[in-house]
Amino acid sequence: MKKVITYGTFDLIHRGHINILKRAKELGDYLIVGISSDEFNELKDKKSYYTFEERRFIVESIKYVDEIIPEHTWEQKATDIQNNNIDVFVMGDDWAGKFDFLKEYCEVVYLSRTEGISTTKVRIDLGDKL
Ligand code: CTP
Repeated sequence: MKKVITYGTFDLIHRGHINILKRAKELGDYLIVGISSDEFNELKDKKSYYTFEERRFIVESIKYVDEIIPEHTWEQKATDIQNNNIDVFVMGDDWAGKFDFLKEYCEVVYLSRTEGISTTKVRIDLGDKL
């Protein structure tokens, strides 16, 4: 069984999220999604509308997703990959090159982002001052 992992905040789910999860799943048979914990979001200076538990509830209901793990630190990716016997690590190409050091453990794939949509854009369009 080919296992794939990807990470993100996944707040205010939009078509860009669904596209990347669909394409990530197509690279293997089993998709694990690391969702940023509320504490990790704070560390990244990222404010999410939904709590970790709410984001987990939503993302685990997406048909491409087989398992959710929490993302607490920048450093955990290498251990997650080894502990879960991951074959492919996937990120959007906004992170291109940044995770090449993980090639020591598995295949690293950067997928193109969906044009014209992001959680930040949704918030701005709704008038959120951020
Ligand atoms: N993503 C994507 N296409 C988009 C938006 C996000 O492929 N239009 C991907 C990101 O590259 C990442 C994953 O979805 O691999 C989770 O991204 P996340 O940061 O949660 O979503 P954004 O919409 O980018 O959120 P923000 O605006 O807060 O940065």
